[in-house]
Amino acid sequence: MLQVTRPRTVHTIVELRDAVRDWRRAGDLVALTPTMGGLHEGHLSLVRAARRRAKRVVASIFVNPTQFGEGEDFTAYPRDEVRDTELLANAGCDLIYAPKVSEMYPEGFATTIGVDGITTNLCGAHRPGHFDGVTTVVCKLLNQAQPDYAIFGEKDWQQLITIRRMVRDLDMPIRIASSPTVREADGLAMSSRNRYLSPRERAVAAKLNKALFASADHIAHGAPLDRVLSACAKALVSAGFDDIDYLDARDARTLEPVTEFDPNVESRLFIAARLGKTRLIDNIPIERTGMTE
Ligand code: PAJ
Repeated sequence: MLQVTRPRTVHTIVELRDAVRDWRRAGDLVALTPTMGGLHEGHLSLVRAARRRAKRVVASIFVNPTQFGEGEDFTAYPRDEVRDTELLANAGCDLIYAPKVSEMYPEGFATTIGVDGITTNLCGAHRPGHFDGVTTVVCKLLNQAQPDYAIFGEKDWQQLITIRRMVRDLDMPIRIASSPTVREADGLAMSSRNRYLSPRERAVAAKLNKALFASADHIAHGAPLDRVLSACAKALVSAGFDDIDYLDARDARTLEPVTEFDPNVESRLFIAARLGKTRLIDNIPIERTGMTE
């Protein structure tokens, strides 16, 4: 039987830095996978991607209060340290960093890191302050762990490119790697928030990615973008979604709006939709997949 070593969990910056310093002294590369816990196969795929790049993998688990808006699910957010530790052990994580809120934001904490431009649209337009919370905590996590690599999921594309921009703009000596979206068997993007869905909502949720893939394919084959997207939004509401926060085609690098398909520009479809009290997001490339050929 495969012997799995349980990763050590540390709660303070000093303990984290001690462990990372020892690994660096031994000449090992270190990769960090930031998470908010409530782990699923999507998170674990990041840990495995981290493993492929570095001998030592740290996963952080921190439900970051500053990226949740008023009325959002900060209190209800899934917290299960025992299960998360088990999953991380099996995925090959060496160290879990689980700071308390007071360790991350001590009395008198007063600094915010913000990235302009690419954070103002899509989720940024619907969740004021969210990305400032994300960039501030990710900047701190990167400074605390000082890894060679940090790995983020394409599921949160706007977050991924915002973090890349921050690291570039602030000359942080860390390589940001990305990993593809992991989906359930019916295509629903895995998310810690999927567990909020009732069985009826879960069945409706599966329609989101199907509608998104079909729309991207139509657009890539020349159908008028505006018409495809408004038909898609209408179909999702008829299927049982309560509201569509946005459904947009954007340049994948700049997040500028795209009005028609251009095979020379990397573009993606982005969606955020509400189903009961759950907000689901997804994004996929607009490219010719051969589905309708
Ligand atoms: P969280 O939602 O826990 O996600 C942690 C990481 O897992 C992110 O990089 C996210 O993009 C990735 N991820 C989530 N679902 C995924 C899926 N289905 N497939 C692949 N990757 C997936 O994102 C956050 O936490 C926070 O904002 C954080 C970066 C930790 C800062 O607090």
